[in-house]
Amino acid sequence: MRLPKYKCENCGYEESLDKNMYFCPKCGDPLTIVYEENELQEAVFKGKGVWRYKNVLPVNSEKPVTLNEGGTPLHESVKLYEEIGVKELRIKNEGLNPTGSFKDRGMTVGVTRAVELGARSVICASTGNTAASLSAYAARAGIKSYVVVPEGAVALGKLAQARAAGAKIVKVRGNFDYALKMVRSLAAKTKETYLLNSVNPFRIEGQKTLAYEIIEEYGSPDWIFIPVGNAGNITALWKGLKEMKSIGMIERLPKLAGVQAEGASPIYRAFVEKKEEIIPVQNPQTIATAIKIGNPASWRRAMHAVKESGGVMLSVSDEKILEYQKKLSSEEGIFVEPASAASIAGLAKAASQNLVGKNDRVVAIVTGNGLKDPDSLMRINAEEVVIDADMESLKQVING
Ligand code: F0G
Repeated sequence: MRLPKYKCENCGYEESLDKNMYFCPKCGDPLTIVYEENELQEAVFKGKGVWRYKNVLPVNSEKPVTLNEGGTPLHESVKLYEEIGVKELRIKNEGLNPTGSFKDRGMTVGVTRAVELGARSVICASTGNTAASLSAYAARAGIKSYVVVPEGAVALGKLAQARAAGAKIVKVRGNFDYALKMVRSLAAKTKETYLLNSVNPFRIEGQKTLAYEIIEEYGSPDWIFIPVGNAGNITALWKGLKEMKSIGMIERLPKLAGVQAEGASPIYRAFVEKKEEIIPVQNPQTIATAIKIGNPASWRRAMHAVKESGGVMLSVSDEKILEYQKKLSSEEGIFVEPASAASIAGLAKAASQNLVGKNDRVVAIVTGNGLKDPDSLMRINAEEVVIDADMESLKQVING
């Protein structure tokens, strides 16, 4: 019998999982789900993907709402590792999840919980990927989804996914931070709809399987680089890594590097200025719309994770994000959306500053598929010609 419970990592408050809660009633921080040490140590893993780790997930349903998420490839870098100057680089391709982003790991658990609670609808605020994922899993569960997005700031592919899945799309005249504030207060006041942003602890539980997979396949690297927006995924990654350590799967934890886009980097700023609190960015700006977030809900847990691991927060410019998005495709064959390239751009920066060394083994998480947001690539120089429909013209191109 597993008896995980809610715990507030900020103030220590604890509560049974029978209740439907997201935030600590004492200090307001997002709650975490914790297990007894022996619950983790006795866990057996079998099967593939997220549900391989069923024994360390806080739902009991025999029929989870699933699209076979997780089990994503950990590609060996063939070129960038050398160019950047590290011993080994593995790229965890989360864009190959069913809806094209890591969000599916959290949604399979989160929507399964929603169904267990008897929820008739689910809701999220989103920069796009959460919306695309939530609407797909809600469709599968046969419940209504509402996605609240910043008007004009969501990549086309993500909106198309939500439209196809039949979500009610609510476009807010304002940025993601306003949208999240609105759905948070709605969820606090009503039991009608279930909130599935990454402040939901069941989302974090699903997403921690990212760490489990990396460790099972590759052991503990020296560093893991991960893009940071609302800071749920880095929270989940660190939780998974620490659980793997208490299970005894690894002896040494990797250092974490959280990478934000320069125009949306409140956690990075607090980190370098050694501040106890972040100062939210009122008007975040970046081409990486997925991480265009000025007031990350899980900033405290992200900061804690980075510091506890002995790692760093970094920020990267839009220019570097686009440069490494292109390089990931042209040198490794991996097509990612701009936010995902932030992890590699961050690694290149860290290596150039000797934060990461030539003997380090590094894993970089790329979080979303490039097909979601092709617009940025249409602005770069590419090898493109238009020819007449005759063989001579084609031969001329091939023969230079
Ligand atoms: N990468 C991609 C592709 C994302 O979509 C997100 C977040 C992140 C990184 C950052 O993850 O928020 O857990 O730190 N997207 C959310 C959304 C905010 O609404 O789709 P995080």
